[in-house]
Amino acid sequence: MLRGSFELIGDKSISHRAIMFSSISKGKNKISNFLMGQDCLSTIDCFRKMGVEIEINDKDVFVKGNGLYGLKKPSDILDVGNSGTTIRLISGILAGNNFEATLVGDESIAKRPMKRVTDPLRLMGCNIEGNDDANYTPITIYGGNLKAIDYKMQVASAQVKSALILASLYADGKSIIHEKVKSRNHTEIMLKSFGADISVEDLSITINPVNELFSQDINVAGDISSAAFIIVGALISEGSEVIIKNVGLNKTRTGILDVVKNMNGNIEILNERFVSGELVGDLLVRYSPNLTSTIIDKDIIPRLIDEIPVISILATQAEGTTIIKDAKELKVKESNRIKVMVDNLKLMGADIEELEDGMVIKGKTKLKGANIETFKDHRIAMAFSIAELISDGYVKLDDEDCVNVSFPGYFDLLKQLSK
Ligand code: S3P
Repeated sequence: MLRGSFELIGDKSISHRAIMFSSISKGKNKISNFLMGQDCLSTIDCFRKMGVEIEINDKDVFVKGNGLYGLKKPSDILDVGNSGTTIRLISGILAGNNFEATLVGDESIAKRPMKRVTDPLRLMGCNIEGNDDANYTPITIYGGNLKAIDYKMQVASAQVKSALILASLYADGKSIIHEKVKSRNHTEIMLKSFGADISVEDLSITINPVNELFSQDINVAGDISSAAFIIVGALISEGSEVIIKNVGLNKTRTGILDVVKNMNGNIEILNERFVSGELVGDLLVRYSPNLTSTIIDKDIIPRLIDEIPVISILATQAEGTTIIKDAKELKVKESNRIKVMVDNLKLMGADIEELEDGMVIKGKTKLKGANIETFKDHRIAMAFSIAELISDGYVKLDDEDCVNVSFPGYFDLLKQLSK
């Protein structure tokens, strides 16, 4: 069982954005509760290579912004490591800057599609080269002289949306980006606080270029995607009661809370407040013996896309048939998360079937120990560490270090809460 309370680490999406927007602002920025995960450190590394002074001091980061047009041609190739958010968002910034830069990443990044970003950036007039017509790394961006765009997004992706918003800051007029389904809106919230001319109406975002962004102090909300593992662990393991403090509760991210409620899970939100424009609160999560199945599809998918691996563990402990569909984006995350979850959960004895765009899980089943192939995907590793809490026998992960991408200290925290 899991028992205790803890302060949640900073949000990955917000931490990336805080470094990027600070770097292109004018003046000094302080970022508190920054996520010192490998992905966010990759973002720091890229901006340092473009001449931005960034100092790390415990959980705080100090960024001396170079201004909107002050980045330098990178001293080296920009290596984003495992970070999809870094490569997608930075592409938008590079497109607006008058120099050439090459982006690479690890084995997983080499398989993740980039045309969703490079195609619309090309429509804005940017010259881009890369593997398979700029769909894969290495990708070289020759930035500058962007035209404004009126663009209907083809995929529900906050990474693509954010890249286009960032490029629009440098365009020659008013740009409008239309989303199909609402995705996380941290870029819109934070850029506005930096002085960007950005307005949102339903699914359309309008951006007018400005001469400069102005520095900000940002307090990063806790990462609900990281909290998700502990939430599910507490819901499914008998006797659990956990308080998670400082959880980001932005509506575009809280799909997991809606799902837990639908599944009859026992979770309470306490002490809601705003931190740097983002709603946060504390969560009280208790063991829930009477979980029931649910259907997860359509518009909720972007609101819980990163939580689906651990939600599939939750579904194995719910009475009835849980269906997850409209989630084919899962196939192009750090690993093919549909296949990897289904294959590994089958090894543990779950009743689960793979769909083209999701999975069907019948519960409740007793899980047994297994050797898990993580494909070095942080969320796969953490999801199965949660499955172990209720399994007969050990769950052996082929890689544990990958969790450092988003949740350094995860296994220590799990040990500390495990009673
Ligand atoms: C992210 C957006 C999501 C999410 C990723 C972080 C972001 O990707 O999966 O972990 O910070 O914008 P997509 O919006 O591309 O699906």
